[in-house]
Amino acid sequence: MNYSIALVPGDGIGPEVIAPATEILDAVGDTYDHVFHYVELEAGGKAIDSTGEPLPQETLEAAKQCDALLLGALGGPQWETLPGHLRPERALLGLRSGLGVFANLRPAALLPQLKDACPLKDAVLAASHPEGKPTFDLLIVRELTGGLYFGTRGRSTDGKAAFDTETYSWAEIERVLRAGYAAAAVRRKKLCVVDKANVLESSRLWREVAAVVSKDYPDIETRYLYVDNCAMQLIRAPGQFDVIVTSNLFGDILSDEASVLTGSIGMLPSASLGSPDDPLAKKGHPMGMYEPIHGSAPDIAGKDIANPLAAILSTAMMLRYSFGLEQEARRIESAVNAVLDSGLRTQDIARRNSTPGTEKILGTKDMGEAVLKQIIGDMNNA
Ligand code: IPM
Ligand code: MG
Repeated sequence: MNYSIALVPGDGIGPEVIAPATEILDAVGDTYDHVFHYVELEAGGKAIDSTGEPLPQETLEAAKQCDALLLGALGGPQWETLPGHLRPERALLGLRSGLGVFANLRPAALLPQLKDACPLKDAVLAASHPEGKPTFDLLIVRELTGGLYFGTRGRSTDGKAAFDTETYSWAEIERVLRAGYAAAAVRRKKLCVVDKANVLESSRLWREVAAVVSKDYPDIETRYLYVDNCAMQLIRAPGQFDVIVTSNLFGDILSDEASVLTGSIGMLPSASLGSPDDPLAKKGHPMGMYEPIHGSAPDIAGKDIANPLAAILSTAMMLRYSFGLEQEARRIESAVNAVLDSGLRTQDIARRNSTPGTEKILGTKDMGEAVLKQIIGDMNNA
């Protein structure tokens, strides 16, 4: 089958981590007889420099025609002083809403190979794990195209007061909850709705919708937590969570918090999905936007030290969710696993005091190469 992928390498370390990711996709394509056709597009800082706007209309229109979008990272210090509507972040928001990708899946799991990078003590981890193991594996489903990030905002006429608004409709809440239940159904069947229903009216609506929608998923346990409590529970007992579903703002904050527990933000992929019924859905699968969650990291850009694994794992999510290629997705995930097993690390995931000879630190290109070799090797042995 042929697939078209809108490619936005973006700014900072974006292009460096996207390059190995597409090489790996191509290797997988060669073996399974898929052709990935890339449509390279500009957004963020690069687009500001060349066109004056963060998200040129052509970029959005071209992305809509593709089967999925793979993005590196957007932004950097040189664009930070621009007014709000011209900043690179606007491109991210514009792509998310323009593509209708309302459900942002952010997995955060502790890999056994990186266990020592987790700041929590084993005893703390084990206490909340259902089987008493010092680990956790959770998924945050963040609502991505509504709430505070898209609500009406403004200033008073004298500029001395400002407001942002949190608005959610029943339909917006329902569809992201259903995305959460679909994810929980193939995981450990536990879903936690996170809100601030003791104060916010919009949160009370979230609970009302959840009470109705949860009836359609009787085999999934539904519970509710206030966001302040959830922030605390994440660092004192992360093992209690399976799927967390929450609003745009709360999901933004909680997913950064959860990433620290995994040891490195350089490992975490993400998928943002639309509805399979949306006109932009292709070949029966939802439109999807895939990106590592680490951002553009301008301080290490161009140094060949960034960790490409989050970008590589994002392509696995793309194969799974937008193309329905589960086996191919697993190939990539198991290759990453094998590379970590063999002790290969980028500097962000290396242990400071590892036993000599157990870990080897690689740059971005060599790490990508190691995963590629592993994939090609796997294929030859298959
Ligand atoms: C994220 C980022 C973005 C967000 C910023 C860059 C607009 O923090 O993807 O989590 O807040 O959504
Ligand atoms: Mg964020």
